[in-house]
Amino acid sequence: MKALALIGGFGTRLRPVTYSVPKQLIPIAGKPMLYHVLDLLPADVEEVVLATGYKAEVIDAYVRAHPLRWPVRTVPEAEPLGTGGGMKNAGGGISDPFFLLNSDVIASADLNALRAAHLARGGVGTMALFEVENPQPYGVAALGPEDRITAFVEKPEPKDAPSRWINAGVAIWQRDVLDAVPAGRQVSFEREIVPGLLPRGVYGFRLGGYWEDAGTPERLLHAQRLLFDDHRGGPGGVPNGAKGPGPVATMGEVDVRDATFGKYVTLGAHVTVEPGAQVENSILMDGASVERNATVVDSLLGPNARARSGHRVAGQVLGEGAEA
Ligand code: GDD
Ligand code: MG
Repeated sequence: MKALALIGGFGTRLRPVTYSVPKQLIPIAGKPMLYHVLDLLPADVEEVVLATGYKAEVIDAYVRAHPLRWPVRTVPEAEPLGTGGGMKNAGGGISDPFFLLNSDVIASADLNALRAAHLARGGVGTMALFEVENPQPYGVAALGPEDRITAFVEKPEPKDAPSRWINAGVAIWQRDVLDAVPAGRQVSFEREIVPGLLPRGVYGFRLGGYWEDAGTPERLLHAQRLLFDDHRGGPGGVPNGAKGPGPVATMGEVDVRDATFGKYVTLGAHVTVEPGAQVENSILMDGASVERNATVVDSLLGPNARARSGHRVAGQVLGEGAEA
């Protein structure tokens, strides 16, 4: 089986960092979000097709420089085509059925079990679902006998949400669902296509464990905590010369002497954290610096961003090269 990953979004909810770095390459717990998402795929997947758009060339260069376990092919869009349009554009040569992944979901899903459930029940698709308190920002499914999906509403008004089971952004579809997607224009798969597929049999696959969409600053940092707690953030501890409990994941050479690290931190390459500084529950991308006695908590520092000496940066997102 092949897998198609959607990675063409603008990452608007993670601006200003996403002005320079595509969302999928923002590191969480020591590696880019996209790489954690693809870690869910079974080892026997034959090919991963990346439907790219925004900053396609940056993603293409990154996956070439950091090979994955599977052969990877990128198919860029000249104009954003939406999730359905992106599937249609990149779906030539895809397998029947195929895995479909949103590239911002951090989860503990077993995709072998998802595949087995799909093959056992039939139908045109099986969508992994996760139960949340507030389903409003997601696609929401109503379930009938055998967990057949009887209604699907994307981003419903609170009163219109048919359940609390949301589309987890991980699914298996038969190839011919792409026939239902009109070519050459922007199409939302969730809004325009999925409801019309329900009469042909679309099933839910309920996930347990953990799940998060890492598309906003708060959820990004929550996804990082989930990954570390599931030991998907590397060996843990703190880098040489630093103090504190960690865990800290480092992605290259760093200079962090006499700095203190609380829980859940990712440090990109060439990050500097000066003596007396404190960092907790944050992501510091390549070249970022935290000067003497500064504090960074609950924050995302883009490439070469800087927390100035003695300052406290809390709950902030700093774009590339920004200072606070
Ligand atoms: N190729 C391509 N082209 N990909 C796109 C485009 C596009 O025009 N627009 C968005 N994507 C990609 C994004 O990069 C992301 O990986 C995925 O499609 C979903 O887009 P998001 O913008 O993250 O959507 P969402 O989070 O609001 O909602 C989606 O995900 C939820 C779960 O996280 C929907 O699939 C919901 O139904 C679902 O519950
Ligand atoms: Mg999303």
